[in-house]
Amino acid sequence: MSSQATNPVASTSGGPSAAPRFDDPNRIIIFDTTLRDGEQSPGASMTVAEKLRIAEVLEQMGVDVIEAGFAIASEGDFQAVNEVARKVKDSIVCSLARAGRADIDRAAEALQPAARKRIHTFIATSPLHMRVKLQMTPEQVHEAVIDSVTRARNYCDDVEWSCEDGSRSEHDFLCRCIESAIKAGATTINIPDTVGYAYPEEFADLIRMIRNRVPNIDQAVISVHCHNDLGLAVANSLRAIAAGARQVECTINGIGERAGNAAMEEIVMALRTRQDLLPYPTRIVTQHITKASRLVSAITGFAVQPNKAIVGANAFAHEAGIHQDGVLKDAGTYEIMRPEDVGLIRSSLIMGKHSGRHAFRKKLAELGYELGDNALAEAFARFKALADKKKEIFDEDLIALVDDEIQTTDQHIKVLDLDVHCGSRKSVAAITLEVGGERREATSQGDGPVDATFNAIKQLVPHSATLALFQIHAVTEGTDAQAEVTVRLEEGGKTVNGQGAETDTILASARAYVAALNKLLVKREKTAPAALSA
Ligand code: KIV
Ligand code: ZN
Repeated sequence: MSSQATNPVASTSGGPSAAPRFDDPNRIIIFDTTLRDGEQSPGASMTVAEKLRIAEVLEQMGVDVIEAGFAIASEGDFQAVNEVARKVKDSIVCSLARAGRADIDRAAEALQPAARKRIHTFIATSPLHMRVKLQMTPEQVHEAVIDSVTRARNYCDDVEWSCEDGSRSEHDFLCRCIESAIKAGATTINIPDTVGYAYPEEFADLIRMIRNRVPNIDQAVISVHCHNDLGLAVANSLRAIAAGARQVECTINGIGERAGNAAMEEIVMALRTRQDLLPYPTRIVTQHITKASRLVSAITGFAVQPNKAIVGANAFAHEAGIHQDGVLKDAGTYEIMRPEDVGLIRSSLIMGKHSGRHAFRKKLAELGYELGDNALAEAFARFKALADKKKEIFDEDLIALVDDEIQTTDQHIKVLDLDVHCGSRKSVAAITLEVGGERREATSQGDGPVDATFNAIKQLVPHSATLALFQIHAVTEGTDAQAEVTVRLEEGGKTVNGQGAETDTILASARAYVAALNKLLVKREKTAPAALSA
């Protein structure tokens, strides 16, 4: 397999006007789009502070390019790109932009403070998208490709161009657009399988076809961006790498539009574990994978399925006696990766009511959490309260508690107090909330304690959202187990998820409901830009 010559992720030692180079042409550039495509998952809205927290972990992991948002989409997206650009120093920070001038100008403005920046501009090239969505002729689309890339190149040297719905585009037209994008200055050409339709060999053939037919393709890095509608996003990405792609776009836990994007942890660990078949290294420090996965799950409220590859709770668990016996004798019998390689530490530190703040902080670090001083103090106080109620505190308890804490710190609405009376007749709930710094109280009746509590919250924070999901999960065994509650609210086509964890199921429900309301406030500020279906 011949390799590509240009790689914009290399050091910037050549100065701002020199196209940066990287000397291992087989290294795979990891482009993370958790903060952009990941945030497009229904219900996964993130605040600017939450995006910053994730960006920090992505940078520590060694992610090459962080797509921080879609600057023109909303004030919140602009701010997120701008703040991430200000904070992140090692990774390239990127903003998405449609092919219009306003989009590209806004992306450039948001990226202005970045040490290393990229503008990612896209337009659809498939017959269906051009005709129905864009209502443009292929000639007009081709012109827009040249205009948008040229404009983006006026702002920065690192420009990525994507052909949305690339896998369903007509080959002659696709090759023509790619060639023109590169002539106009694109340094990365991204081929999305926007609707997750491609089959691995077919997608690899598409990459090979582009490499064979586009005359100037060696002047750009080929990237792929695969969606998971048929569960093939990771397989398609890996086949594309074998066919010559050198950048993959992916997200933590595979979150993203509809069925999601290719999961970064799966791609990185597949490349690492099967170096015999896929000799393409990445720069990812895999020991940060578990931490990143937990953080994204806590912030989005999207639980990771237990059997999810690499980061699921069962990914390294062995149930059958014969497997346990084998693993004890030699882990290699049933484990193809070491848990510690993805940052999963089997720890013997047991937490209880006598554990101090130092042990608590150390335990959290082992579990992949580093909290700021305020959040740590609040989490420690809650841990002490939990230890008074519950004899044994398991890792799962701490994870649920801290995830809940991460969601509630710095929130506009907070639960201060809840008093519920229930029985075979009507239930009554009296709740005290802090709303924008102001203390508010309400009492309400309902059909059961949860209904009464939600009615009381609604009195204090009126809204028209409907409850789309109410789910309770016991974190551990026993009647003193914490309940982890997920609440999903829908309002005018917008969906948000909130989570809460407490030994008291009703209090956990109230916290989950309030967490969802906080996200709804953030989401209300966002407006979906036209023609963004990616
Ligand atoms: O899925 C898609 O086509 C996208 C593009 C904007 C890259 O997300
Ligand atoms: Zn996408």
